[in-house]
Amino acid sequence: MSDTAKLHLPDGQSIDLPVLTGSENEKAIDISNLRAKTGHITLDPGFVNTGPCESAITYLDGEKGILQYRGYPIEELAEHSTFIEVGYLLIHGELPNRKQLEVYVDRISKHAMIHEDMKLFFEGFSKTAHPMVILSSMVSSLSAYYTEASGKASIENLEINSARLIAKISTIAAFSYKKSVGQPFVYPKDELSYCVNFLNMMFSVPAESYEIDPDIVRSLELMLILHADHEQNCSASTVRVVGSSMANVYASVASGILALWGPLHGGANQQAVQMLQQIYEDGANISKYIELAKNKKNKFRLMGFGHRVYKNFDPRAKIIKKVCHKLLKKLGVNDPLLELALELENAALEDEYFIEKKLYPTLDFYTGIMYRAIGIPLNMFTVMFALGRVPGWIAQWKEMHEDQKQKIARPRQLFTGPNKRKYKPITERN
Ligand code: ACO
Repeated sequence: MSDTAKLHLPDGQSIDLPVLTGSENEKAIDISNLRAKTGHITLDPGFVNTGPCESAITYLDGEKGILQYRGYPIEELAEHSTFIEVGYLLIHGELPNRKQLEVYVDRISKHAMIHEDMKLFFEGFSKTAHPMVILSSMVSSLSAYYTEASGKASIENLEINSARLIAKISTIAAFSYKKSVGQPFVYPKDELSYCVNFLNMMFSVPAESYEIDPDIVRSLELMLILHADHEQNCSASTVRVVGSSMANVYASVASGILALWGPLHGGANQQAVQMLQQIYEDGANISKYIELAKNKKNKFRLMGFGHRVYKNFDPRAKIIKKVCHKLLKKLGVNDPLLELALELENAALEDEYFIEKKLYPTLDFYTGIMYRAIGIPLNMFTVMFALGRVPGWIAQWKEMHEDQKQKIARPRQLFTGPNKRKYKPITERN
C-alpha cells in the first residue's frame, strides 16, 4: 500500500493524499483529485513546489550537485560522449549501439539543409534583430514545410521531425549569423560531424580554406552536452505546456526558444559576459559590484549566479570551468574577463550574503567566456544554448505525449479581483 498524507481543511473536510516515491527516493504528494474532492486548489507562484509530471529523463539533486541524463552522470557523458549520442539517449531512453548511432547520425546530417525559400525569410528581419527571435521564427516556420507534423500526426512522425529539428536548427543559427555579418551562407555538408558542420557553416567563407581545431570541436560538443536537458525548467515547461494543446513539435520548440531567451534563464550567458565587460571597463572594482548585487534598492544582480534548484554547486559549472582554462590556454587566448570572472567568483563565494542565500556560479558564468574564445559573437550565446537544448525539449515533448495522465495544461488561480458589480455607463464614471 502506498503512503498517504492527510490534509485537514478549515471547513472540516479532510482528505487522504497519496505520497509517491521517485526512483531516487524523492517524495511527492499527489493532489490531482484535491479540487474535485474538496473544492480547494493549491497556490504555488513560480511552481517552486509543484511537479506537473512524472519524468524519467533527467534527474538532478540541487543540494548534492547531481545531474544525470537517463541515469548516466553528466561527468561521464561529458567525458565520453558526443552531443548526437546524448541527444539519442535523451529522446530514446538508452545509449545507441554502434549501428543505431550510425543510422541516427546519418539521418540528422541528411536533414540539415533548409528549404531554399526559407533563405528569403532572413531578408525580412531588421539588421538589429536578435538571433534568438530569428531562430524562434524560423523554427516555427518549419511547420509550414512539414505539414505532416500537425496535430496527432506530429506525434506519430516525431522520429523524422526530431531529426529535422536537431539538424536544421544549426543551419538556421549559422545562416542568421552569416546574414548579420554580410557573408554568403555556407551550406551544410553531410560528411561532417554535427559540431564540425556547424563551425564550418559559421566560420568558413568561399574565398579561403578553413581548418577546424579539434579542441574547439570537443569543447563545443561538451557545451552542447551540458546544455542538453535540465528537467522541468522554464523553457522545457513551456515546450510541454504548448505541446499539451496538440501544437506541433516545431511550434512547441519555437516557444521554448523564446522562453530560453529571457535573461533569468538562458539569456543569462549573454548577460553574464556583458556584466563582466561592464565591470572590467569600470576599473574591475569587484567589491563595488558585489555590494551593488546585495543592495535590494538596486536591480543589479550577479548574472550567471544563483539557480532555482542548485543550492550547493552546479556540476556543469565545475566541468566547464576546467575545460574553459584548458581551451583558453591551448588557443593562447589571454582573456581578462576570465581572470575577472575567477576573482568575482572567489569574492562572491566568500561573501556572507552569497553563502547564506546559497548563490553559486552556474554553467552560464563560464560558457560565455568559452564562446568568446572560439569566436561566437555575444548575441549568439543564447542561440548556442538553444542548439544544445533541442534534444531535451524533444524528449520532454515526447514523454508528455506518451504519458496517459497528461492533459492540456490549464492551471487554476485564486481570484482576488472585484466581486460582481453593475455596469456603469461612461457618463456616470469619474
Ligand atoms: N545576485 C544577487 N542576489 C541574488 C541573485 C544574484 N544573481 N540571485 C538570487 N539573489 C537573491 C535574491 O535577491 C533573493 O534575495 P531575498 O531572499 O533577500 O529576496 C534570493 O537570492 C533568492 O533569489 P530568488 O530570485 O528568489 O530565487 P529564484 O530561485 O526564484 O531565482 C534565479 C533563481 C532567477 C536564477 C536567480 O538566482 C537570478 O536571478 N540569477 C541571475 C540570473 C541568472 O544567472 N539566471 C540563470 C539561471 S540558470 C538557467 O536558467 C540557465
